[in-house]
Amino acid sequence: MSVPLPAILVVDDEKNMRLSLKTVLTDERYAVRAVDSAEEALTLLAQEEFFMTITDARLGGMSGYDFLARARAQWPELPILMITAYATPKLAAEAIKAGAIDYLAKPFAPEELLHAVSRCAERYRLLQENANLRARATETYKLEHIVGESSSMCELRQLIKTVAPTDARALILGESGTGKELVAGALHNLSRRSRSNYVRINCAAIPETLLESELFGHERGAFTGALKQKPGRVEEADGGTIFLDEIADMSRPLQAKLLRFLEDGSFTRVGGIQELKVNVRLLAATNRDIIQAISQDQFREDLFHRLNVVQFRLSPLRQRGEDVVLLARHFVESLAPSMNKGIRDASRAARQKLRSHHWPGNVRELRNVIERALILESSSEIQPESLPDFQLEARLHPAIVPKNAVGSSLDEMTENFERELINSILAQNRYNLGRTAEQLKISRHALRYRMQRLNIALEAEDETTSIAGKDTPINPA
Ligand SMILES: Nc1ncnc2c1ncn2[C@@H]1O[C@H](COP(=O)(O)OP(=O)(O)OP(=O)(O)O)[C@@H](O)[C@H]1O
Ligand SMILES: [Mg+2]
Repeated sequence: MSVPLPAILVVDDEKNMRLSLKTVLTDERYAVRAVDSAEEALTLLAQEEFFMTITDARLGGMSGYDFLARARAQWPELPILMITAYATPKLAAEAIKAGAIDYLAKPFAPEELLHAVSRCAERYRLLQENANLRARATETYKLEHIVGESSSMCELRQLIKTVAPTDARALILGESGTGKELVAGALHNLSRRSRSNYVRINCAAIPETLLESELFGHERGAFTGALKQKPGRVEEADGGTIFLDEIADMSRPLQAKLLRFLEDGSFTRVGGIQELKVNVRLLAATNRDIIQAISQDQFREDLFHRLNVVQFRLSPLRQRGEDVVLLARHFVESLAPSMNKGIRDASRAARQKLRSHHWPGNVRELRNVIERALILESSSEIQPESLPDFQLEARLHPAIVPKNAVGSSLDEMTENFERELINSILAQNRYNLGRTAEQLKISRHALRYRMQRLNIALEAEDETTSIAGKDTPINPA
């Protein structure tokens, strides 16, 4: 992968010197900009990107040393090569101490100069490639990392496999902590764009006024503080994927600009006039009710349709049956080794306690609960005592509308509430079906039927308590 090299900035007040430097460098196919003062050089540096600067130590106006100090302070990454006719070891040492990358005494052979320049070019390319690699490798999302055997999770993995290789846009919906980011990452990783950048922007985390310039970049002077031209993240994602997280939090004016961008990938930087164009695949996610946001005029319906080419809906953890237990084991296995604990799994009673909770924070909450339990646990298995008192927590937040009564329709809310209620009575009765049925004043058979319908799993203790819902394969312990 070859990274394009920006120009070299040459600063020298002697015209002949400028010309000969320029000739030597352009002969080697470097792009060169030459100016005759430090002041001019500082202005140019603020506007354009250079991979290095070559400056004479003696300049009319600001000296080469002062220029070096100023430039170092503002662009610490920029290599600066000093040239002088009055070379002394002391001056050379001073220049290097002040941050010059190298020091050449006049007269010097062109090879000496070219050698120093090529080292800077190499360094620039390496830095850029590393930055790209980092962007790609920081999070290696794989399908196998999406844990769960419930039917909704199996369908999800299948849909990811089908959709990933296409260039289709996707909208990923689901409550907080259900794994939306994981899906977006896997879509990129399994696509033909996986060798290009994956850029993620959290629209809720960036102030509204800055989000546009973050996305599309800005020209110098576009607004106060825009000292330098800055390319947009969409340019960084060219050839790859951009993931807009928390898209429902984007302001309406920016939604209009995004809509235009989605037409054909063209955009203008803030304060710019030139139309630029990139080829990116867009993925978006939100944990908000997007339909409600549309009906309240907070989100553009046309944008929704553009994004919603493929829709991924992540079910809440409380509806994934036995996945709670699988995920708990997954987190124990992945977290315990780094904590130097020999814990392999949760005990049977702890597993049952995990099943009975309604997980408002979904997988993220489960991960935190397991992490905490691993810290507290001193035996070889996680015991119920190392888990939070979920019943107590539920009582800490009494509400007129039960907080688990979430969902998009009355049926869904009622179902969630019923599941929570049965789970909590089951826990009170230590998962004895007979006593639970008695307390609820229904038959044992009716209780079992409801549990099956609501995907409430109990581990088999004996024949009479074994219940298996559609998503709840029971592993006899
Ligand atoms: N199916 C899963 N298998 C393994 N880990 C998961 C799964 N789902 C979520 N996680 C883990 O749970 C945590 C939360 O997931 P993620 O950040 O993707 O949630 P989210 O839906 O983006 O939440 P939010 O809306 O709050 O941003 C992460 O640590 C993620 O790795
Ligand atoms: Mg997220």
